[in-house]
Amino acid sequence: MMQEPKSLLRSRSGQRYGSVAIVLHWLIAFAILGLLVLGTVMVRLTPGSSLQFELYQWHKSVGITVLALSLLRLDWRLIHPPPALPVTLRPWERALARFTHVGFYVLMLALPVSGWMMVSASTWNIPTVLYGAVPLPHLPVLDTLENKKPVEDALKEVHEWLAITVAALLVLHVAGALKHHFMLRDDTLLRMLPRCRRRVTEKHEEVK
Ligand code: HEM
Ligand code: HEM
Repeated sequence: MMQEPKSLLRSRSGQRYGSVAIVLHWLIAFAILGLLVLGTVMVRLTPGSSLQFELYQWHKSVGITVLALSLLRLDWRLIHPPPALPVTLRPWERALARFTHVGFYVLMLALPVSGWMMVSASTWNIPTVLYGAVPLPHLPVLDTLENKKPVEDALKEVHEWLAITVAALLVLHVAGALKHHFMLRDDTLLRMLPRCRRRVTEKHEEVK
């Protein structure tokens, strides 16, 4: 009996992420990428300028959106478990993939929460209005501290280091996804892409 290529067998197994998980993954991924760039740029603008103020408000709005989408995504994941990791992964690859995924989930919550804590403890006491429409209250305790400055400074450090960590994880994660797609030629990346993209590839593989 003729053996089918491994990648084709796996892509027929139906082991893929659901549409909701895919949409949430890419929405959050692009939002975080945007926030990393926006955050890095905005802190370097003239302090107190109106452009800086505008960009800070956008940063906070998109950041809180990431928090809401991440909570939704975690809920969704608990109800709809993800497909198993590819069987071909070696134990260390499996451990690395799990470490990256868990790390992302922690950071997707910790980063926006640290930002929210930072603005709540800010000595500037600037109100946050999400997308110019929805006021975001400051977190209790932090907004009434006697001496806010050291707390604000510490939270700034924490927020910056969490952002650096998410960027480092992202490099690892993307390198893994590209290695699977271009070197190992399995369907790890395809199962996180919309279905139409996948059909084209399957057809392509069957013709080969
Ligand atoms: C996943 C979500 C987020 C990411 C990836 C992110 C990323 C960043 C980055 C890269 C910086 C620049 C750090 C630096 O170079 O000093 C920054 C700064 C900042 N972020 Fe976020 N952020 C997120 C969420 C939030 C949220 C939800 C808030 C507030 C509600 C927030 C408030 C701020 C503020 C006020 C600064 C400026 C700090 C300063 O003046 O030094 N961020 N963020
Ligand atoms: C900051 C941006 C990103 C974050 C926070 C992120 C987060 C995650 C998380 C948490 C998972 C695990 C999903 C689960 O099992 O519940 C995942 C899976 C995945 N991500 Fe990302 N991701 C990001 C960017 C990207 C990018 C740019 C790519 C493509 C180059 C990518 C490709 C994938 C793939 C292929 C999977 C499925 C892996 C598997 O089946 O084991 N991600 N991502």
